[in-house]
Amino acid sequence: MVISTDDWARLGERARSLEAEVRAALAWRWSNAALGEHASIGSFAQFSLQLLAVGAPPEVLRASHRAGLDEIEHARLSFRIASAFAGSPLGPGPLPLPRAMPDTTLVGAARATLIEGCIAETISANEAQHAAAWTTDPTIAAVLGQISEDEARHAELAYTFVGWAIQTGGSTLRDPLRKAARDQFAAYERLSAPAGPSMELRHWGVVSELDRFELQRQVLRSTVRLALESMLAGLD
Ligand SMILES: [Fe+2]
Ligand SMILES: [Fe+2]
Repeated sequence: MVISTDDWARLGERARSLEAEVRAALAWRWSNAALGEHASIGSFAQFSLQLLAVGAPPEVLRASHRAGLDEIEHARLSFRIASAFAGSPLGPGPLPLPRAMPDTTLVGAARATLIEGCIAETISANEAQHAAAWTTDPTIAAVLGQISEDEARHAELAYTFVGWAIQTGGSTLRDPLRKAARDQFAAYERLSAPAGPSMELRHWGVVSELDRFELQRQVLRSTVRLALESMLAGLD
């Protein structure tokens, strides 16, 4: 995906035509999204360590490193959008890192990947796809389209790794993974709908808390449940 200098300039012009309050809200929301993308770079660095520790195949390791590069690009593009709304360049500061190494057992790596990859990346891909369809801004739509495609590929990578881990570890992995999936579903189902408006700032690629909650619930109950059921041969 190539977004030209002209595309960015036009986004800048459109941003300048907004009221100061709306611009500030958009700069804040897009900065938060960018920081989330930036943190994902670290998540893939940790995932790569887990892959090394469990002896995962080189193509999975390569895909993990590529995914880390995707996240660098997502962060860069999202900060660029945030900067257009802020009217000055924004970027990340130092990232607080976890003190401990990630769980490097096969079951621990597979469990974390199921939660953060199979489930969370599918939720992210679906959200970005909807946000891309809802925005009326072509530059933002291009960025969100790219993010959605990449996150869907990251979810696929997670399924590939967990599938490999099940083959490698055999039936001992199935029960802990089924439990992790069940617990995760239960945790999502316990969430109640947040207050606040739907569709707020939707034209500018921002997904409201309520929209996020509804999209999350839909995709979990359909795509995610089916994919996990077929991988784990039944969740209940
Ligand atoms: Fe991302
Ligand atoms: Fe991702």
